Amino acid sequence: MTSAPMPEFPAGFRWGVSTSAYQIEGAVTAGDRGPSIWDTFAHSPGRIVDGSTGDEACDHYHRYAEDVGLLAGLGVSAYRLSIAWPRVQPTGTGPANAAGLDFYDRLVDALLAAGVDPVATLFHWDLPQALEDAGGWLNRDTAHRFAEYADLVAARLGDRVKLWITLNEPFVHMSLGHGTGAHAPGRVLLFDAFPVAHHQLLGHGLAVSALRARSTSPVAIANNYSPVRLAGDSDADRAAGAAYDALHNRLFTDPLLGLGYPEEPGFDPAVVRAGDLDVIAAPIDVLGVNYYNPTGIRAPSGEDSPLPFEMVPLEGYPRTAFDWPVVPDGLRELLVQLHRRYGDALPPIQVTESGCAYDDAPDADGRVPDPDRIAYLDGHLRAVHEAMTAGVPVTGYFVWSLLDNWEWAEGFTKRFGLVHVDYATQRRTPKSSYAWFRDLVRR
Ligand code: FCB
Repeated sequence: MTSAPMPEFPAGFRWGVSTSAYQIEGAVTAGDRGPSIWDTFAHSPGRIVDGSTGDEACDHYHRYAEDVGLLAGLGVSAYRLSIAWPRVQPTGTGPANAAGLDFYDRLVDALLAAGVDPVATLFHWDLPQALEDAGGWLNRDTAHRFAEYADLVAARLGDRVKLWITLNEPFVHMSLGHGTGAHAPGRVLLFDAFPVAHHQLLGHGLAVSALRARSTSPVAIANNYSPVRLAGDSDADRAAGAAYDALHNRLFTDPLLGLGYPEEPGFDPAVVRAGDLDVIAAPIDVLGVNYYNPTGIRAPSGEDSPLPFEMVPLEGYPRTAFDWPVVPDGLRELLVQLHRRYGDALPPIQVTESGCAYDDAPDADGRVPDPDRIAYLDGHLRAVHEAMTAGVPVTGYFVWSLLDNWEWAEGFTKRFGLVHVDYATQRRTPKSSYAWFRDLVRR
């Protein structure tokens, strides 16, 4: 970590932290919440490394007031939460479940009272199970159901949510949830998962107009990006890199910004109907960027490889507890690349997730020192600043995550929080990175 002072960010820059509903809320049957695909998946033997579920998670549903207190103490200007669709519509269709919306109503009011802008993601992967039973995102109808749900949420919270995010990481939901099956709903379709991409994007576009009809707040989507690092420089390696880049970085962004789908991944576009691309390209106000690491890619080694690329571990970098390489400059590279690629079509960017997992634990004095996380955040914020100096319009940065929480297929084994959570007692202990980030935000 450099000892040079952190460069200054402009006044009005949005400092925030992020979480998502299933990862922190618990209380999965409270207020008539219906089951989601993640409840089903987590309760299926062998799916989660430690056999845990999100049944209790951080019990945020009952402890939200304490957690808003932690946000206020941190001094952030924004908090990115996600709304659980199965709380609002337990079976994914029909009228709003008042008890579900009441919870978010209380949370949003508590945030505003604490001086924190609520930023709400509508879909952070917790699809109502009843919709999955009807085909989930493989079914075009789910896009229309999503817009209906967006309308119900905006009717209740549209006067107070300061930024809407329609979808979280549709790429990850497609690839891990429906390509490899590592995430819920656990389908293994490889490249036949493309309808999941298209229907999520269609749902996004339809939701944008539903939100605009009810709320004057800006609208965004949060995509996951990963710059490609080629492991070799043969033509075959370059072609593999272009295919992976198109799949991970362009599949969801090209059509959002009016360029249609990229050709390289080689998907069957049969599900794309006339007019869909116009719906998908509805103008957005902010592009949410989630970044964790670059991806090493080379040409596939076998002729019968099911994919047009092969992933290779990136050597020579420090690694997080997730074994992800720590590459702050990848964030600068990615932001500059987005700016170069999309030019004037690119809306202002907010980094909606950036963070790292380490095996943090309280020491003998009960403090939780996490110097690696401080170094991680320091490096990534400098990278954001460098991109801004190079002309990329970045207007905010959210740390993943406020709290240690239930990390999907990794269960409770990966701690991403600025605040340590003892899952047996639900005791929250701010780590040293919490104080570091608070001091930075204050400045
Ligand atoms: C992102 C997810 C988020 C969290 C982080 C570590 O892909 O959006 O929920 O799991 O990774």
